[in-house]
Amino acid sequence: MFRKLIASVLLVIGFCFTSAGGHAQGQVADAEGRQWWQHAVFYEIYPRSFADSNNDGIGDLNGVTSKLDYLRDLGVDAIWLTPCYPSPQVDFGYDVSDYENIDPMYGTLRDFDRLVSESRKRGIRIIMDFVINHTSDQHKWFLDSKSSRNSAYRDWYIWRDGKGPGRPPNNWLASFGGSAWKFDPQTGQYYYHFFYPEQPDLNWRNPAVKKAMFDVTRYWYKRGVAGFRLDAVDTLFEDPDLHDNPIRPGTNWQGLPDMINKYNDKLPEVHEVLKELRKVADEHGAVLIGETWTGDIEELKKYYGEHGEELEMPMDFMFTTVNKLSPSEFRRQIAKVESSGGWPVYVLSNHDITRSYNRYGDGQHNDAIAKLMAGLYLTLRGTPIMYYGEEIGMENNNPKRKEDVKDPIGRLGWPMFKGRDGERTPMQWNDEPNAGFSRATSWLPVSPAYPTHNVARELQDPGSVLQFYKHLLALRHQNGALLDGEYVPLNENDPNVLSYLRRYKSEAVLVVLNMSAAPHKVRFDLSSQNLSSATARTLLTTRRIQPQEASLRELSLEPFEVYIAEISK
Ligand code: GLC
Ligand code: CA
Repeated sequence: MFRKLIASVLLVIGFCFTSAGGHAQGQVADAEGRQWWQHAVFYEIYPRSFADSNNDGIGDLNGVTSKLDYLRDLGVDAIWLTPCYPSPQVDFGYDVSDYENIDPMYGTLRDFDRLVSESRKRGIRIIMDFVINHTSDQHKWFLDSKSSRNSAYRDWYIWRDGKGPGRPPNNWLASFGGSAWKFDPQTGQYYYHFFYPEQPDLNWRNPAVKKAMFDVTRYWYKRGVAGFRLDAVDTLFEDPDLHDNPIRPGTNWQGLPDMINKYNDKLPEVHEVLKELRKVADEHGAVLIGETWTGDIEELKKYYGEHGEELEMPMDFMFTTVNKLSPSEFRRQIAKVESSGGWPVYVLSNHDITRSYNRYGDGQHNDAIAKLMAGLYLTLRGTPIMYYGEEIGMENNNPKRKEDVKDPIGRLGWPMFKGRDGERTPMQWNDEPNAGFSRATSWLPVSPAYPTHNVARELQDPGSVLQFYKHLLALRHQNGALLDGEYVPLNENDPNVLSYLRRYKSEAVLVVLNMSAAPHKVRFDLSSQNLSSATARTLLTTRRIQPQEASLRELSLEPFEVYIAEISK
């Protein structure tokens, strides 16, 4: 509430944030206190795979800049760039060796500045990915840290004695395989890594680490960045006494004991760091998005902070665990996040999660289902984060042979788990070789679906997934109820059709999603909502011919239809 008030006051006095670098961040909130990110559509770009400007087979920042008109026309307001800092690329950029530069394979700081300024001209903000849990083992801090037990940076990482020869300090397992401890023969101690051994965890209990990392955020704010997506925040802290983690019966994806990360995941200290990071972000009108793998709503609530003083946008990944078209499951998940009191953040997939096209598609109606899923997460109350290519119905292209796998965990997990290459393949721009992504062979193979699923072709086809996204995003941007309206579930016992209202002041928008392959008839009684009208005025449907109106007493739906309409009093 207090933040809301301040925001409105700032608006009234014509506040316009200008950072030290001279990059205006633009208006912070609207007249009703809504922050810019609450009305924004975010779009995740994996820069290696978006557009290759210099034809070396790897996407780059100038490639992204060259596609800004496309993104503006699509209806994107903010781009989250996954890491493009200098990196040995063991984890494709999530192993950062310098937080204040751009990897030459992606371009230069000047290219980055141009991306920011060209984006701003089109009303698009840039969000950087901030890998705060760990650095690369090639970062100068770690190189110094491992050089001797007395080095200035020794305590920037987590070094411990083993329990004896060949015996690590405790039983913790790395989420990317094997023990979470790696022995360093030179100094005779182990260091801790939650991910790959090439990604040593920073010691967030050391105030010098905190200061250095906070300064990194200031550096990018000055370059005009509008916020950060915080990588792997769950695992910032570890139990200082290194208690062994409990083990469950069974094995994990690697055939190792199935461990509960009780002592190295979601420790309460994380929240102290987030509160402080947030204060720095607030000084710059910036937003913080969290990679928050919460198991239940109580955990998610904690990330917003008791008084909303932590992450504005913790991602709700529980939503992505509904891997079937189940109205009741989605209703349950939506109700949960609605009950959190925070502003929901919806995601369908990302560079770590199999594309939604494959997860929900039935192999027969995949395009219709892609539109259905858009109809869901782009009309809910909250901020959606799209993943590049979702808007053209891009599918996973998983490696066929182990020797083709680029993502190291895919080689470790083969054939059970083939890694994350499949969801990271090049964006499909047209039907030219390499889907127009590059004139060179691309670092990952383009999906064989590119002749039918590409931007150029879908722009020509009024019935394409892309056109549906464009219409829906345009509607969302100008409709008060879709932007700000309360979420009111309807017909909650319907096993096939998910329906809800978005209510804002005197406006009401009805969203009806037929999640089944059969046609259905639905009926709405909105009298309890003080809406007496028996008809709805169509705003958007997936039908070829849009009815202008429909009866609420008997609304006929095609298989997988999305029906969005305005209801008057
Ligand atoms: C996050 C990233 C993932 C990366 C991991 C380690 O989960 O999204 O891609 O491998 O952190 O940095
Ligand atoms: Ca390139």
